[in-house]
Amino acid sequence: MTTIDLTGRNILITGACGAIAQYIVQRLSSAGATLLLTDVLDRAKAEDIFSGWKLASRILYRTMDVTNHTQVESVVDQLSSETGGIETFLGHAGGCAMHPFAKTDPTEYDRIFQLNYFGQVNIARALLRCWTASRVAGHGIFTSSLVGSLPWINLSAYCPAKAALQMLARCLALEYAEHGIRFNVIAPGHVAAGSSLNVYETDPEYRRMVDKVIPLGRLVRPEAIADVLLWLCSPLADDVNGQVIGVDLGAAIPKVGG
Ligand SMILES: NC(=O)c1ccc[n+]([C@@H]2O[C@H](COP(=O)([O-])OP(=O)(O)OC[C@H]3O[C@@H](n4cnc5c(N)ncnc54)[C@H](O)[C@@H]3O)[C@@H](O)[C@H]2O)c1
Repeated sequence: MTTIDLTGRNILITGACGAIAQYIVQRLSSAGATLLLTDVLDRAKAEDIFSGWKLASRILYRTMDVTNHTQVESVVDQLSSETGGIETFLGHAGGCAMHPFAKTDPTEYDRIFQLNYFGQVNIARALLRCWTASRVAGHGIFTSSLVGSLPWINLSAYCPAKAALQMLARCLALEYAEHGIRFNVIAPGHVAAGSSLNVYETDPEYRRMVDKVIPLGRLVRPEAIADVLLWLCSPLADDVNGQVIGVDLGAAIPKVGG
């Protein structure tokens, strides 16, 4: 029997209070990892959310807006010294509502791009500074999306941001390989959780488009995202570097005849 035991591993997660994050946090916690949870939400709200998740391992929480690079540097420093070092980070904060190009003002367009791309640059920069200074062969994992490689209507800031993220991971994987540092990406398809599930259930047009691209005819289970990340955070994936791992039920497969 193969079991995954992450006891003794410190894993930092951004956007840790969200819908998919719930499944990831529960899965990594049940494997024994120490979780350094961060989100833009204040502590009271975050702790209220976590109290319903029945977590099995040690967790620490800090409010951290990933788009505020000064705050990201400071929180990463605090958590590193409190825990003795962070080996893995999961840059998971992101998302957006539908934003038709002509109706999205420049400020909102920038905000979506900042959150989904530069938020990940900020967390990567902070951890790379720690890892290179203390010679830690760390592992950075970004949450991208199916739509980082498959263009989607009304997501003209989000899709390019998620696409850029995939290239960023591969650039950093190359640039930091000499330090033993790895970068990988998970690219979920349409997930049955949170706002994505809500739109699917309430917007018939969106549902029709989603059903059309998923060969297996159902939404991705959030548990499946958590399982892939559990594996990616474990020694079983130590040789995986610079990869974009799709968990999308085959939605990214090019289809002849639409
Ligand atoms: N839901 C899907 O179908 C789907 C598909 C592909 C990729 N994704 C990606 O998965 C991730 C999570 O998606 P979700 O549907 O669970 O979203 P969600 O909205 O439920 O969770 C996002 C979390 O990020 C936090 N957050 C927002 N802005 C932040 C900021 N500036 N700094 C720090 N935290 C911030 C929110 O408070 C929230 O807890 C996102 O990166 C999203 O792009 C989702």
